Amino acid sequence: MDDASAYEILRNLSSPIVALTCRRGDRLNGMIANSAIRASIVPGRQRVANYVFKRHLTHAILSATGRYVLHLLSREQWDEIWALGFQSGHDGDKFDGLEYELTGESRLPVLPRAYAWMECEVVNVMDAGASTFFMGEILRLERGAGVEVMDSEHFRRHMPEAWREPYERNLEGVQEWAESHAPAMDDGPWRRLHASAGTDDP
Ligand SMILES: Cc1cc2nc3c(=O)[nH]c(=O)nc-3n(C[C@H](O)[C@H](O)[C@H](O)COP(=O)(O)O)c2cc1C
Repeated sequence: MDDASAYEILRNLSSPIVALTCRRGDRLNGMIANSAIRASIVPGRQRVANYVFKRHLTHAILSATGRYVLHLLSREQWDEIWALGFQSGHDGDKFDGLEYELTGESRLPVLPRAYAWMECEVVNVMDAGASTFFMGEILRLERGAGVEVMDSEHFRRHMPEAWREPYERNLEGVQEWAESHAPAMDDGPWRRLHASAGTDDP
């Protein structure tokens, strides 16, 4: 199968559209992701996880603080997706003009129009070369004002026409960057696990 067809098939594995928000000192930031998954089935120990590219400002802030808010976005939140997912905090303040509130002791930014939001603490990571897979434990989970979750299919179908060109351009840019960074990966945990599993048949 050619690379483009394989990529289209794998796109079906996308999760809903989420926003991660974070804070370092007075600096607020956030990004959009479609790689979030539930990472625990234990009701009293809820965890979530997702990939964040290493070049994003959000990556630097999560690495330094270990705290973030993951929002399941609602279908009305096009402004939030544009502000957080189409420009980088490296180029300016994304929260200027966005509706948000500060919550908890860490005063993390919350988007009140979300379907739900969860304040998380990073408990582990996996190096994925171009990105880091962050696993967060949920410290607090709240419903927002949103009624329906913005899933990836709804996003792709209904995103404003004018966004398609910047969306594809951003994607191509990050794909090119990721291609050269993907092979450089700390695979120590896998090597240790594999070695300790031994070579005997089960
Ligand atoms: C629909 C959509 C899904 C995205 N999914 C991811 C993702 O899963 N992981 C990621 O690192 N970036 C993802 N991005 C890209 C970031 O949200 C975007 O590059 C953002 O500007 C990074 O901001 P920052 O540099 O301020 O952290 C996605 C963007 C969009 C619009």
